[in-house]
Amino acid sequence: MKRIAVLTSGGDAPGMNAAVRAVVRKAIHEGMEVFGINYGYAGMVAGDIFPLTVRGVGDKISRGGTFLYSARYPEFAELEGQLAGIEQLKKHGIEGVVVVGGDGSYHGAMRLTEHGFPAIGLPGTIDNDIVGTDFTIGFDTAVTTALDAIDKIRDTSSSHKRTFIVEVMGRNAGDIALWAGIGAGADEIIIPEHDFDVSDIVTSIKNGYKNGKNHNIIVLAEGVMKGAELAEKIKAAGDRSDLRVSTLGHIQRGGTPTARDRVLASWMGAHAVDLLKAGRGGLAVGIHNEELVESPILGTAEEGALFSLDNGKIIVNNPHKANLDLYKLNKEISY
Ligand code: F6P
Repeated sequence: MKRIAVLTSGGDAPGMNAAVRAVVRKAIHEGMEVFGINYGYAGMVAGDIFPLTVRGVGDKISRGGTFLYSARYPEFAELEGQLAGIEQLKKHGIEGVVVVGGDGSYHGAMRLTEHGFPAIGLPGTIDNDIVGTDFTIGFDTAVTTALDAIDKIRDTSSSHKRTFIVEVMGRNAGDIALWAGIGAGADEIIIPEHDFDVSDIVTSIKNGYKNGKNHNIIVLAEGVMKGAELAEKIKAAGDRSDLRVSTLGHIQRGGTPTARDRVLASWMGAHAVDLLKAGRGGLAVGIHNEELVESPILGTAEEGALFSLDNGKIIVNNPHKANLDLYKLNKEISY
C-alpha cells in the first residue's frame, strides 16, 4: 500500500490529533504517502482531501479537538454515500483509510473495506462506550476535566452546605460518571447500568449532613436523566437540603489531552498503519490489559467480531458495560 488517508469522525475527543499525527509520521516512516480528509465521511464525499506532511502535523499533539475537523454523517450508512466517497478516494489514488471515531465511524470503515479499500477504526470518543477496547481515546482527558470541575463545585458545596447534582456526559454509558465520581469522592454516582432509588438518595443526603458532612455531591450520568429532572424527583421525595444542579456539558469534550490519551492515541495510530501496510482492513484497534488488540468490525461473535448482521440489522456482539465493581466500590467508601 503506497497511499493512505486519515479522518476523524463523530464527536471530537482529546487525543484525536495525537492519533492523526502518529498515523502520518508512522506512514511516512514506512515509505507511504498520507492524505487528510476534513470533516470525516462528509469531507470524503465532498472531496475535501489534502496531502499531509511530517511538518504539517507538528504542534498538534497537545491540542484538543481535531484539526481535521469532524462531523456526524449518517448518509455514509447508505450505499450511495459510500460510492460517492470511494469515487473521491480513487481520484486521489488512496488505497486504505484510518478512521478515528465511534461506533458509527467503524461501520463506515467496514463498508470501505468491503468495497476494496481496507480501513482501520481507532476508538475516539470521550464516552468510553466502544466495544473491543478497555479505553477510548479522549476518555481519560474527559474524566480529568470532569474531576477538576467537581473538585471546584465541592468548594461551594462545602462552604454553603449545599447538595449538588453534577450531570456529566457519556451518552448511554456511565464510565465518565464512575471514574470522575470516584476520583472526586462523590457521595452518590448514578449511572444507566445500575438502578437507583430516589428515597435512598434522600436518606443518604439527610444522614450525611446529620453525621457531620458539610457537602453532598451526586454525580449523574446524562444517560439516566437530566440533572433538573433528578432534582425534582429528589425534592418530591422529601429532600430539604439546598439542592443545586450543575451540568458540565461540552467542557468535557475539549482541552489539552492527558499524557495517557496522547500515548494511547499515538500507539493505536501507529498500529493502524502497520495493519494497513500488511493489507489488513475491516479491523478496530483497542487496548486490553495494556496491550494493543485488533478485532474484526463485522462477523460472528465466535470470530471475535464486534458487530454481527441480523437481517440487515447491526447487532453488537458484546455490548460495552461500565465496570460495576467501581459502582460497588463507591458505595463502600462514600458514606
Ligand atoms: O459522544 C460524545 C458526546 O459528547 C456524548 O457524551 C454526548 O451525549 C454527545 O456527544 C453530545 O453530542 P453533541 O455534541 O452532538 O451535542
